[in-house]
Amino acid sequence: MSGAQRRQHASRQAADALVVFGITGDLARKMTFRSLYRLEQRGLLELPVIGVAVDDWKVEQLVQRARESIQDSGEQLDESVFARFADRLRYVSGDFADAQTYNRLVRQLGHLHNPTFYLEVPPSLFETVIAGLHTAGLLGSGERVVVEKPFGHDLASARKLAADLHKYLHEDQLYRIDHFLGKMGLQEILYLRFANTTIEPIWNRNYVSSVQITMSETVGVEDRGHFYDPVGALRDVVVNHLLQVVAAVAMEPPAGGDADTLKTAKYSVLRSMANADPAHYVRGQYEGYRAIPGVAADSTTETYAALRLEIENWRWAGVPFFLRTGKCLPAKQTEVRLVFKHPPKLAFIPTTARLPQPGQIIVKIDPRTGIKMIVDAHRADTRGASEIDLEMEFAQEGGEGPTPYEVLLHAAMIGDGTAFTRQDSVEESWRVIEPLLNNPPAVIPYACGSWGPAEADKLLNGYGGWRAPWLTAAPATDAQNQ
Ligand code: BG6
Repeated sequence: MSGAQRRQHASRQAADALVVFGITGDLARKMTFRSLYRLEQRGLLELPVIGVAVDDWKVEQLVQRARESIQDSGEQLDESVFARFADRLRYVSGDFADAQTYNRLVRQLGHLHNPTFYLEVPPSLFETVIAGLHTAGLLGSGERVVVEKPFGHDLASARKLAADLHKYLHEDQLYRIDHFLGKMGLQEILYLRFANTTIEPIWNRNYVSSVQITMSETVGVEDRGHFYDPVGALRDVVVNHLLQVVAAVAMEPPAGGDADTLKTAKYSVLRSMANADPAHYVRGQYEGYRAIPGVAADSTTETYAALRLEIENWRWAGVPFFLRTGKCLPAKQTEVRLVFKHPPKLAFIPTTARLPQPGQIIVKIDPRTGIKMIVDAHRADTRGASEIDLEMEFAQEGGEGPTPYEVLLHAAMIGDGTAFTRQDSVEESWRVIEPLLNNPPAVIPYACGSWGPAEADKLLNGYGGWRAPWLTAAPATDAQNQ
């Protein structure tokens, strides 16, 4: 077999071990144990899980950490499921820069020959770990390596990071996690768009006037000041999560279900995007942010971002995509909203009557998923014409499905690369956003619990302003989403 054939063969095979570097860290505590436990519960975890970290632990401590993490996440712990899960855990202690750590890992793996490696470590350590795996002969057959954002802090650093990794790995071995791609709501968009002849033909510039995407969070930066202050909202969630949402909303129907075809369809959207214009960018910072430990007293980091993007292709030219995200806003909600063109004046109703309003389609992505259409209706009763909502939360139709990390870890283990990002898309995303990083407007304070700076409304002049997000009766908070 040639190298490429061996790689392809391995990339299609289910892993026979999951090796988690940095298993004693925060991400594992908050997300990984719970996700793996839920996969165990659903009968989808069929391999040993080997944790590697510098802490001088025994496996018993890892099991205890796993138990606490799962319980702290609010999951009801079923002892028999947990016992099966705990039985899979192994631990290798060692410094990531020490070759002996990888030799110990080789011994721990024993006869297992197709491990998937999950790097829950900062990007500055990616190359160290991958070089260690390479030297120990653990990457020779196309083994998959899962990595977590950030993938650079601008275009140049994203390219540099990829070049460092490509010294040891082919692009198709790299599984870059953007947890939004594991959200059921995002996957739903693609299906809704192309599985419905009532929807697809109007999903374009002939009918749509603008697209509004809102990702609002109730939480502030809390104990993440050190991480967040050098990053800000644009790098934290816009260049990755929100551009992936745009790609799902705007892409053409992929011609196949394999990872490369899907990724190419998304890449084409990003490739068609104009560089963002700082004149259409509003930055906000919630009052009280500067008092957070780890945040500079004179910080100008944005905790709120609103911007306008343009996609220059036949489907979308002339349709602005308005994006906004922020912390400390009134509700936890991510939604996509298509606002359709204004209907003409209706000759068959009195000239004094209220004008019909443009229709809207809203897809709610998170924390709950659902679809709503707003149509203008003329009721026979005394109320007369007005907008009415036709809506359905998917929880009413079969539940919310698995959480993003369950989806993505399972996909990585079975070698399904469809929901991971490819380097060309990462680079295009940075290319689009970089003008905003280079020429940021001044940051505007906003009150915690408000919808952000009023200046963000001006971005939508001529487009009817930001529509209030579709919330459920009791607005969800971030805590409910953990
Ligand atoms: C993360 C960001 O990637 O996404 C966080 O670093 C943000 O700042 C989080 O809060 C939001 O994710 P979700 O799934 O809660 O919408």
